[in-house]
Amino acid sequence: MVEGLKLGEPLMVIEDLKIDFLTEEGTVKALDSINLTVRKGEIHGLIGETGCGKSVTSLTTLGLLDDNARIQGGHIYYREKDLLKMKEKKLRRHIRGNEISMIFQNPVSSLNPVYTAGEQVRESVVLYQDKNKKRARQIVLDELDRVKLPDPEDVYEKYPHELSGGMKQRVMIAMMLACNSNLLIADEPTTALDVSIQAQFIKVLKVLQEKNDLTILYITHDMAVVSEICDRVTVMYAGQIVETADVHDLFKDPKHPYTRGLIHSVPGVKTAIEDFETIPGTVPRLINPPSGCRFHPRCEYAKKKCSKVKPTLEGVPGKNDKHVVSCHFWEEVE
Ligand SMILES: Nc1ncnc2c1ncn2[C@@H]1O[C@H](COP(=O)(O)OP(=O)(O)OP(=O)(O)O)[C@@H](O)[C@H]1O
Ligand code: SF4
Ligand SMILES: [Mg+2]
Repeated sequence: MVEGLKLGEPLMVIEDLKIDFLTEEGTVKALDSINLTVRKGEIHGLIGETGCGKSVTSLTTLGLLDDNARIQGGHIYYREKDLLKMKEKKLRRHIRGNEISMIFQNPVSSLNPVYTAGEQVRESVVLYQDKNKKRARQIVLDELDRVKLPDPEDVYEKYPHELSGGMKQRVMIAMMLACNSNLLIADEPTTALDVSIQAQFIKVLKVLQEKNDLTILYITHDMAVVSEICDRVTVMYAGQIVETADVHDLFKDPKHPYTRGLIHSVPGVKTAIEDFETIPGTVPRLINPPSGCRFHPRCEYAKKKCSKVKPTLEGVPGKNDKHVVSCHFWEEVE
């Protein structure tokens, strides 16, 4: 539980975050003034086509960007402290695991090959829950059971190379859940799981959120999952935020042409974002992104202003800033 914060109050606020990557081919302008508020107790979905900056956004919050990254501006306030100003030591001691934990997109590289699965989960338990050896072992077994790993006793003793991709992903999830953090960032947490396990995992998350006031930033391509578990959703396009809204508003009444394209092109939302076919063109390379609104080369509503002036996020009247959209002409599009 985050003391002093009520449900629905801002827990993490990302303001005007700009990140570049220096590469031999040039500067990749990966994030262009990202604004995103995650509120206590919600599951906040972060969606967008591949390469739009979802993972970079989440890695920045924990200070885990690659060495060639350059933070060009902005703030990430977590309970009013700016994470971007925190030293590595403080982030490691007070934020990672303690306050914010993350399930990575690629769990295989996140597990240590020289320790068994059980030992790795136990490390989180001992650090963040209970130092007593006997009790810690039982908590680990319970955590392995909670993520539906068959035969937790057996899995406890197995090394990562002895487990399947899906099992490794579940061990990672158990490790993260064992941290008892306030904010869980889950970056495509179910990619290596088969469909039935995905559904179970999503149920586990939902129960945890409801029981513990856990706050979750859930990054996914899967619109069905978004509609099923998220309370609010942010849509990214080519390193910019295009829209944030409550999940029902986003699906029922999307304002941004890109969001509208995503949602209206998917019958029954049972599709992954990559399978959309009705938005012509592809995501631009971010070394030389389109000027103004980065979506303008693909937007059927684009006018002269769109390639010249970058739109900013503005509130939809009557929604108390809970529904924001970044488009010069969203009212006309409607
Ligand atoms: N170390 C790096 N060097 C150069 N460019 C990078 C680096 N890391 C990320 N990028 C670029 O930043 C942009 C955003 O990448 P990111 O991984 O955040 O995308 P994503 O939205 O998570 O995509 P996906 O859905 O495929 O996971 C991409 O253009 C990517 O190529
Ligand atoms: S600002 Fe212009 S190009 Fe961008 S989404 Fe709106 S209408 Fe389309
Ligand atoms: Mg990613």
